[in-house]
Amino acid sequence: MKTKVWLSTVFTLILQPIGIHGFASHDITTRISNKKPLLFAYYNNRGDAFFPQEDMELLHDRIRTLKVSILEDELKRPPNTSTSPTELVQNIIQGLLHPFDPLPDAGFRLILRTATKKWKRRILHSVGANDDADAEIVASALGAAIGRPDNQFAILVGEGENFTVELSEPLNFGDECWLECRLRDKNTSKLLVITGWNLVLEDGMWLVDNIDWQDFRESFRPGIGREEWMRDTW
Ligand SMILES: *[C@@H]1O[C@H](CO)[C@@H](O)[C@H](O)[C@H]1NC(C)=O
Ligand SMILES: *[C@@H]1O[C@H](CO)[C@@H](O)[C@H](O)[C@H]1NC(C)=O
Ligand SMILES: *[C@@H]1O[C@H](CO)[C@@H](O)[C@H](O)[C@H]1NC(C)=O
Repeated sequence: MKTKVWLSTVFTLILQPIGIHGFASHDITTRISNKKPLLFAYYNNRGDAFFPQEDMELLHDRIRTLKVSILEDELKRPPNTSTSPTELVQNIIQGLLHPFDPLPDAGFRLILRTATKKWKRRILHSVGANDDADAEIVASALGAAIGRPDNQFAILVGEGENFTVELSEPLNFGDECWLECRLRDKNTSKLLVITGWNLVLEDGMWLVDNIDWQDFRESFRPGIGREEWMRDTW
């Protein structure tokens, strides 16, 4: 129980300064909990937790280090001006497969960060959010929606077949680019899904403007042609 108190206090301290609400991460839990708890909270008579001063300094030190390493991890992610179309798609797919690394919902935030305005608006509407909704909340809603067990997109977050990724050469038209990404069953190589990615160049960075989705799996209305990824209910 004491460990829990310690952990949740750390989460609050870490996550508030960098603007994350709520947490549900395995990865971050592991990151912290494989270290021996540093200190335990005391309680005042209103039930608020507090820590002895010298412990606090140690704790702040450790949090600072952790926070910097986490921020560095997120900042290395696209979009940036040196990310190619192929790398962008690979990064998003990898990000979705490990959506809680390096931070809760990081993979879902990556979808939002790498979206054009138009695509972002579509994503927001697909989870019932309005245009100025808080990104953290949307990312978390998006995660819940994609990960629903019978959802065809759950494959992207590792809740379906294990797959390998096959990327086409990007077709580059100046400031627009198109590429196809095929998901094949890891075991049988059977084609499961073809996704088509439209990217556009904005301020020197490739962003996703639309993704379409053609499902070849029996259980997901195979062969009815390409649909925009967001249009299906999730
Ligand atoms: C840009 O993103 C790529 C991943 O596509 C990453 O490897 C690289 O470190 C990033 N560059 C900067 C300057 O952050
Ligand atoms: C995917 O691979 C993992 C580990 O190799 C395995 O435990 C899991 O059952 C596989 N999932 C499916 C749906 O085949
Ligand atoms: C993988 O394929 C082999 C036959 O090719 C089959 O025996 C095995 O059960 C499959 N494994 C999974 C996890 O689907």
